[in-house]
Amino acid sequence: MDQKQQLPVLDAARLPQHVAVIMDGNGRWAKERGKDRVHGHYEGVLSVREIVNTCGEIGIPYLTLYAFSTENWNRPKAEVDALMELLVNTLRKEVEELRHKGVRLHVIGDLASMPPICQQELAEAMEITRDNSRVNLILALSYSGRQELLQAAKALAQEVASGTRAAATLTETDLEKHLYTAAFPDPELMIRTSGEHRISNFLLYQLAYAELYFTPVHWPDFRKAHFLEALADYQQRERRFGKISEQVQAF
Ligand code: FPP
Repeated sequence: MDQKQQLPVLDAARLPQHVAVIMDGNGRWAKERGKDRVHGHYEGVLSVREIVNTCGEIGIPYLTLYAFSTENWNRPKAEVDALMELLVNTLRKEVEELRHKGVRLHVIGDLASMPPICQQELAEAMEITRDNSRVNLILALSYSGRQELLQAAKALAQEVASGTRAAATLTETDLEKHLYTAAFPDPELMIRTSGEHRISNFLLYQLAYAELYFTPVHWPDFRKAHFLEALADYQQRERRFGKISEQVQAF
């Protein structure tokens, strides 16, 4: 069978610049195979690899992956430990290839709450890849959209209290400067795998105008063809930003 014929044709000029992904279903994928949940996470790393590579190949410069939420700390300790170990081992194993392929690593979230070894490995990987710009791979770790907004609100309150800003003059841009994502454009497409139709505290501010794409495919099965399918679906949508269809088509 010719694999190529089955891949959707994409318009390179209309690709999203930033795709955000909720990588869900690792546990269910493993359970369906009678395996431990952690096995699903191991396999999920292979999907991460393939989607990062695809972004590089087709020209998507920003990819944010929800790798660990603040709520995930409530999972059984053995699973949390295994995920942290997987993160460290994956970074060690992959960092040279990331560097070679033009991928720059970033992290968003409450990094200080991550185990010291993870912080160390992430800092090293970010340093090693800092000159790259082909793909900005942004890992959301110990991330909560509400916490992100709260810390931004606190920072703005501080500016007002110190007299450097007047509350009445604050703009959306002022708020955006204090988000973890200040250096990145907003995602135009958010993909969630494994059949759940929720945003789950992910990029609450940044996803304001994003197209949402939900697929029943579990994350470990979500590979290049599924990703291209999501992008093709995105390209069929009309993004109006509150305008009417005729106004958008005029451009
Ligand atoms: C959701 O599946 C997935 C996670 C909480 C972790 C995602 C982590 C990886 C894909 C691997 C580590 C990533 C990197 C970047 C090294 P789930 O466990 O909630 O699945 P379930 O809903 O079926 O239980």
